[in-house]
Amino acid sequence: MEFMDKERIISGLPHEEEQNIELNLRPKRLQEYIGQSQVKQNLEIAVEAARSRGDALDHVLLFGPPGLGKTTLAGVIANELGSNFKTTSGPIVQIKGDLTAILTNLQENDVLFIDEIHRLLPHIEEILYPALEDFKLDLMIGQGPSARSVALSLPKFTLVGATTRAGLISSPLRSRFGLVHRLDYYTEQEIGVILKRSAEILDIQIDQDGTEEIARRSRGTPRVANRLLRRVRDYAQVKANGVINQEVACKSLAMLAIDEIGFDENDKKLIKTIIEKFSGGPVGVATLAAAISEEVDAIEDIYEPYLIQRGFLHRTPRGRVATKLAYEHFGLSPGPGQLNLL
Ligand SMILES: Nc1ncnc2c1ncn2[C@@H]1O[C@H](COP(=O)(O)OP(=O)(O)OP(=O)(O)O)[C@@H](O)[C@H]1O
Ligand SMILES: [Mg+2]
Repeated sequence: MEFMDKERIISGLPHEEEQNIELNLRPKRLQEYIGQSQVKQNLEIAVEAARSRGDALDHVLLFGPPGLGKTTLAGVIANELGSNFKTTSGPIVQIKGDLTAILTNLQENDVLFIDEIHRLLPHIEEILYPALEDFKLDLMIGQGPSARSVALSLPKFTLVGATTRAGLISSPLRSRFGLVHRLDYYTEQEIGVILKRSAEILDIQIDQDGTEEIARRSRGTPRVANRLLRRVRDYAQVKANGVINQEVACKSLAMLAIDEIGFDENDKKLIKTIIEKFSGGPVGVATLAAAISEEVDAIEDIYEPYLIQRGFLHRTPRGRVATKLAYEHFGLSPGPGQLNLL
């Protein structure tokens, strides 16, 4: 696909080789975890309190756009608690037995991480309710008329759930989390600190201006920042003397078609389609997805949150609307019908 490379930079799904690199770059302790200071403070207190009581931490729900550090933070929580970290994800757990096996294998104070928790099947989610609330598992033993249900006690554990779509979590599940935290986009300055840390781990030479240039174009997202850093490093090795400065950063990012605020061809296509094909909107997300041959989920999860946060797109009850800022940024002029642009 034409935009394959750029899609990889922005998208939320790291491929295998990258997963290994991400693993190395992942902070292990709260102190190394940059930004999200309010979330960190709250967790620090909760962890400390649970530890001193010798009790399991309350269940934690982390939500926010892809690549902001939910999985990383879940691992950090387990490390801070000094507990085992067991992971699974909503789509992987297909049958009741899968979850039952995971739960019965837990030890006291373990952290169980369920990624994409909004994708748990309803009948599997139901097993979780008593497990989370009373650390009990209702099991059916036998079949037919002799079948009976027994309640099994589970060790006290902590569930950490992560989702990009908090709105899709059922309210009974949501209500069982004692700590609910939203991760937000990072400031450019915070992304700069993350870039410096990654550069050091990966042994990449980068100066202050080079760092700031990449930070500006990273969509406030650590995963994107780390990806861009590696791409720019490749360019610096081949075209410069291996050192990343502002010029090297600008040139290589231009080659990747990442513009000065981090938008790529896909963002441009999305905004231009709203403006040119739908007179600036409002246009429903399904119609928009069809027009740009994208999945609705990709638009809602990956592209749209950042465009909305930067004020380029508005979500209205009747659909998506391009803002005045969007027209200006992409050098387009509003039509006669759009005098009262947002
Ligand atoms: N606060 C942070 N400080 C330093 N690095 C971070 C931070 N948050 C995330 N990262 C880096 O960004 C990468 C992506 O983070 P992570 O995989 O935790 O995101 P995520 O929110 O789980 O994404 P997804 O929704 O796609 O699962 C990590 O490998 C890590 O290197
Ligand atoms: Mg994750």
